Amino acid sequence: MKEPVRVTVTGAAGQICYSLLFRIASGEMLGKDQPVILNLLEITPALKVCEAVAMELNDCAFPLVKDVVVTDDPAVAFKDAKIGLMVGAKPRGPGMERKDLIADNGKIFSSLGKVIDDVADKDIRICVVGNPANTNAYILAANAPSINQRNITALTRLDHNRAIYQLAEKSGSDIADVKKMTIWGNHSVTQVPDISFTEINGANAADKVDATWAKEEFIPTVAKRGAAVIAARGASSAASAANAILDHMRDWCLGSESGDWVSMAVPSDGSYGVEKGLIYSYPVVCKDGDYEIVQALEVSDFIKGKMVESETELKEERDTVSDLL
Ligand code: NAD
Ligand code: LMR
Repeated sequence: MKEPVRVTVTGAAGQICYSLLFRIASGEMLGKDQPVILNLLEITPALKVCEAVAMELNDCAFPLVKDVVVTDDPAVAFKDAKIGLMVGAKPRGPGMERKDLIADNGKIFSSLGKVIDDVADKDIRICVVGNPANTNAYILAANAPSINQRNITALTRLDHNRAIYQLAEKSGSDIADVKKMTIWGNHSVTQVPDISFTEINGANAADKVDATWAKEEFIPTVAKRGAAVIAARGASSAASAANAILDHMRDWCLGSESGDWVSMAVPSDGSYGVEKGLIYSYPVVCKDGDYEIVQALEVSDFIKGKMVESETELKEERDTVSDLL
């Protein structure tokens, strides 16, 4: 039996976590042979609900779950943690952009960054989910300088999965046949879903759909899908977000599918001309518990222009949180 991995999940009493935690516990994130200890962090007023979630987790009698810890103390939650799923944050409502949440949510990530710096494993793998996810990850990284900075990432896998669905639907293809989807940039309306390199059954996807659709419908539909779910549901996406978090962390830890790549927002190393350090979504291949940005893709001028717009938005978001860095 492997040693248990300590997984810290913030916002554990919230919507996303009600879908997420049970799937981690069943082995869908780290594998069916990997025991876990679940540290659930909540704010004090939500502790009672969080205790109820822990009761239900225990009532499932998951063989892989070695302990469930409920706490409102971040230092307890992150002590020696190897994985941090940073979900706890306010969601947006109708008519808001994700960056409108910065004033409320940014400070959560500066204070948790400091605690993580003090008590977590130095190689903790972090996935920031709370919005605006890229800038919150940037804030966390700035406040956790002793943590392996490569390992501070944000979630754009939901956008990646949404893009695969839209393309499969439009082209009448099977989801499983769609490979090498790309999301560039910010998890915001400026994100750049890009099918230039995507394959359907090994053939170029761009040849299977109308070019006008790809530019004028596909990109905005994916970029605005979060708002469309909020409009339809009255609350932001939860089960699909949880599913994307599992996909992100599973692929990072266990490897992405051979012959494919996935999208992750990671600290830029300057690839594709993006300013170093910005948390920017790239196509990545995951292997041996690490990720590598896919290099040398020939990006069209149209996509490059959009990538720069998304980078500019990230710089503007960063400028609004200079007091938290
Ligand atoms: P929710 O309101 O249902 O749950 C959030 C939980 O976080 C609440 O229980 C709250 O008490 C808790 N919380 C608040 N501050 C906290 C703190 N400092 N420490 C620990 N817990 C804290 O919201 P949700 O629907 O679960 O969404 C959570 C976040 O995820 C939102 O910001 C939402 O916009 C974002 N989101 C991101 C993506 C993505 O793809 N990146 C997708 C969906 C949702
Ligand atoms: C999403 O993409 O569904 C989330 O970021 C929630 C939102 O505010 O759109």
